[in-house]
Amino acid sequence: MVKEISYSTISNVMEDWESVKRTKDYEKVAGTKLFRRLFDKCPQAKLLFGFPIDIDVDSPELLQSKRFVAQAIYFWNMIDTSLNMLGPDIELLTEIMTELGTKHVVYGVKPDMFPIMGDALVWTLKEMLGDKFTEESEESWKETYGALSADMIRSMVSK
Ligand code: HEM
Repeated sequence: MVKEISYSTISNVMEDWESVKRTKDYEKVAGTKLFRRLFDKCPQAKLLFGFPIDIDVDSPELLQSKRFVAQAIYFWNMIDTSLNMLGPDIELLTEIMTELGTKHVVYGVKPDMFPIMGDALVWTLKEMLGDKFTEESEESWKETYGALSADMIRSMVSK
């Protein structure tokens, strides 16, 4: 559960997150990387965001479309919102994630998409932060993302 994550894990995650934010246009840069990677590893996810399943992940038709860029930025901001709740609102977060899981069922998200999104997120952070993204960072992100998704998935499979 999210509230069991240690303070030092959260502080590693938040430190990396602040570093990402120092990149110009970070939402667009990081969001695009994340979505491209997710769509490459999980073509079904394209459908959930309104793209044809057979669209090439490297095509300008996808990567330069206003819709792709807007969705990528929107999604990156959603991660930001979720991470900001790790501080003072952590006690409430399991409840919020449980509700969010139910919404994701409606969006058509399947539990097996969560680890693919998690890998795409870690891959994106490595690309953005380079050597600053240490093994300790990676462990902290995996633990945090794992706890957030576990709370969401629990509510999805109990429906
Ligand atoms: C811990 C993991 C995740 C978090 C924290 C998260 C967070 C969110 C949030 C906050 C929203 C907006 C919900 C609302 O209030 O309507 C959202 C929407 C959405 N999420 Fe996630 N999500 C996660 C994982 C995933 C995964 C694995 C997928 C699929 C690959 C996914 C696909 C979507 C889609 C399709 C929407 C709707 C977007 C739209 O409005 O068009 N999410 N997510």
